[in-house]
Amino acid sequence: MSSLALLHAEQLVTLSGPKRPRVGVEMSELAIIRNGGMLVRDGKIESIGPSDEIEQNVGDAEVVDARGGVVMPGFVDAHTHLVFAGNRLDDFERRARGETYEQIARAGGGIWSTVEKTRAASERDLLADAKKHANWFLRCGTTTVEAKSGYGLTVEDELKILRVLRRLKEEVPLEIVPTFLGAHAVPRKLTPDEYLDLVITEMLPRVVMENLAEFCDIFCERGYFDIDQSRKILSEAKKLGLNLRGHVDQLTNSGGAKLMAELGGTTADHLEQTDEQGIAALRKANVQPVLLPGSVYALGSSRYPRAREMIEAGLAVVLATDFNPGSSPTPSMPMVLSLACTQMKMSPAEAITASTVNAAHSVNRGDKIGSLEPRKLANFAIFDCQDYRELAYWFGTPQALAVYVKGGRVL
Ligand code: NIG
Ligand code: FE
Repeated sequence: MSSLALLHAEQLVTLSGPKRPRVGVEMSELAIIRNGGMLVRDGKIESIGPSDEIEQNVGDAEVVDARGGVVMPGFVDAHTHLVFAGNRLDDFERRARGETYEQIARAGGGIWSTVEKTRAASERDLLADAKKHANWFLRCGTTTVEAKSGYGLTVEDELKILRVLRRLKEEVPLEIVPTFLGAHAVPRKLTPDEYLDLVITEMLPRVVMENLAEFCDIFCERGYFDIDQSRKILSEAKKLGLNLRGHVDQLTNSGGAKLMAELGGTTADHLEQTDEQGIAALRKANVQPVLLPGSVYALGSSRYPRAREMIEAGLAVVLATDFNPGSSPTPSMPMVLSLACTQMKMSPAEAITASTVNAAHSVNRGDKIGSLEPRKLANFAIFDCQDYRELAYWFGTPQALAVYVKGGRVL
């Protein structure tokens, strides 16, 4: 049996508490142990508490001295587009000159330009890039990511991306939760309804048959998929046993939050334009909002989602990077914490809850990860600071000193 004893963490941020997503004031309760310690056996947390108590049971465990550092559960990044080819540097420069996301897409940039590059890339090349991205996440202290397809838009290319995710999961320590996002954009030469038919009759059955995804997602937006089309795809996915996520109300308030509530989605993501009625609908249906301030920032917008109202309404808010080459080229959860605090007026504690335990529940893994409690996986990071608030405060500064997945050091 391999075992490890982590001792003397300045702050051991456990987030122990109720076995469900945290809401309201619970989001501020991090259950911190000062001078904390933790005993890990066979990849799982055996006991956790004051360092001097843990020290008495060290036995032959390997000792990790976390003196002077903050120890936290690894971040769970609940919304990423991890597999794609190339970059969108031209879009980036055009935005700097004042063009909008939609203008750039119409002029040949946008999602479509990444689709062309991703279709042309081999599975091997995509896997090599994906491994590089996975390493970036680990270096930021993230140990689990949800990751979507969506840059293939043909049966074979969507399956290719999902297969890359499956191989990635086998070959890197980062835990991957796969999502099928065939309805990310309408391919050239097809009408929305023709493509919808392809997604429903060919893609979804293959994805489910080959067990390649846990969730189905859509981009419900003007110029992409409208409410009725989104409802058709998601309802079909639900019938086939997939859980639902959705890119909704990002650029326009089209009623996407209400749709996710109507369908009993697990999450509704983006929500920059969602109003009080949308928030109330999410609350009533117990849908978790996944807020993506990195994409608001990188698109040069100032319209952040209404995080405070959502917390006050009792929603179990989640924060994620939306890592993708177009609207949010960052794998950094600490950067997202900074944006959450400075732009959405979340407290550092709320932001940490939103990016660990709440995020874990939003990917159906709340029983295994997201907090440091006995029997959960020993997925944690040691940060070079003495107060958890420093993670959100020193923005743009790498602070992860070491990262562990299932008790093994991966960084
Ligand atoms: O979450 N909004 C749609 N999808 C992505 C952007 C993808 C892209 O621009 O490549 C997002 O922001
Ligand atoms: Fe996204």
